[in-house]
Amino acid sequence: MQRMTKRRLTEQEQAYNQKRSELIARCKPEYIADAPFLFANRIQTASMLSRVELFRMVMDIPGAIIECGVYKGNSLMLYLQLSLLLEPYAINRSLYGFDTFEGFRSIDGQFDPADINEQMFSETDASILEQSILLNDLIRPVNRIPRCELVKGDIVKTAPEFVKDKPELCVAMLILDTDLYQPTKVALETFLPLMRRAALWCSTKFATGTLPGKRRRSRKCSTSTRSSSSDFHTKVRSVISGFEVFGMESATASGVMGR
Ligand SMILES: C[S@@+](CC[C@H](N)C(=O)[O-])C[C@H]1O[C@@H](n2cnc3c(N)ncnc32)[C@H](O)[C@@H]1O
Repeated sequence: MQRMTKRRLTEQEQAYNQKRSELIARCKPEYIADAPFLFANRIQTASMLSRVELFRMVMDIPGAIIECGVYKGNSLMLYLQLSLLLEPYAINRSLYGFDTFEGFRSIDGQFDPADINEQMFSETDASILEQSILLNDLIRPVNRIPRCELVKGDIVKTAPEFVKDKPELCVAMLILDTDLYQPTKVALETFLPLMRRAALWCSTKFATGTLPGKRRRSRKCSTSTRSSSSDFHTKVRSVISGFEVFGMESATASGVMGR
C-alpha cells in the first residue's frame, strides 16, 4: 500500500492531492458538506473508523471525553455526533476540547522536534467550532444541559485550573493530540488520576511511534520508531502503571486502558 501521510509525500500522493484540490475547487461548500466521502482521503476514513471503535470502547464507562489538541475540531465533533447518536440521553457525558486555538505553545527545547514553531496549527477559527456546537445544540435532546465545551489557552495552565473547579469530574476517555511534550505530560498528570477502571487514553502518536519526546530518542539510538522505550514512555510509565496498552489495526489511534 502506498504511504499516505501529510509529510514526505510520494509522487503518487502529490498527484492525488493536486487532483483532489481541483475537484474540491469545482464544488460549492454545500456540495462538499452534503457528500463528504466524495472528497475524503484514506487518512480521514481510517481516523474516523478508529475513533468510532474507540468511542464504542467507552460507551459503558461513565465520565467525560477530553480532547487535548482540538485544532479545527473535526475529531471532537465526530465524538460529539457519536455521543448524540448512540447515547442521546446521556446527560452526564460531557465533552471538553482543550486548545490554544492559536497554534503550538509550551514547545520544549529538549524534547520536541527542532523543526516546529508557534505558527503551526494556528490557521484555525474557534468561532466556527463554537458555532457548530451551538448548531447541534438546536436539535439534540436535553439541550439545556451543555454537552460540549471548549477550554481555550495553553493546556499547561488551563488543565490544572480546570480540574480545581470540578471536584466531581471523572474521565472516561483522554485524547492526547497536541504533538508536544509539556502539554501531553501535564494532561496525563492532571487527568489520569481522574480515570477509573477501563477508562481509556489514546493518542495517534502512540501508534505511529511519534509521541512527544520519541523522535529525539529514536534518532539518538537509531531504533525503530515503533520501539516502546522512548524517553517519554519512561517518564510516564510510573503515571500509567496499571494501564494496559493496545494498538488499533489502522495505526491511526491506540490507547491505554485501565485494568
Ligand atoms: C495535531 S493538532 C490536533 C488535531 C485534532 N485532534 C484533530 O484530530 O483534528 C495539535 C493541536 O494542539 C494544539 N496545541 C499545541 N500546543 C498546545 C498547548 N500547549 N496548549 C493547548 N493546545 C496546544 C495546537 O493548537 C493544535 O491545534
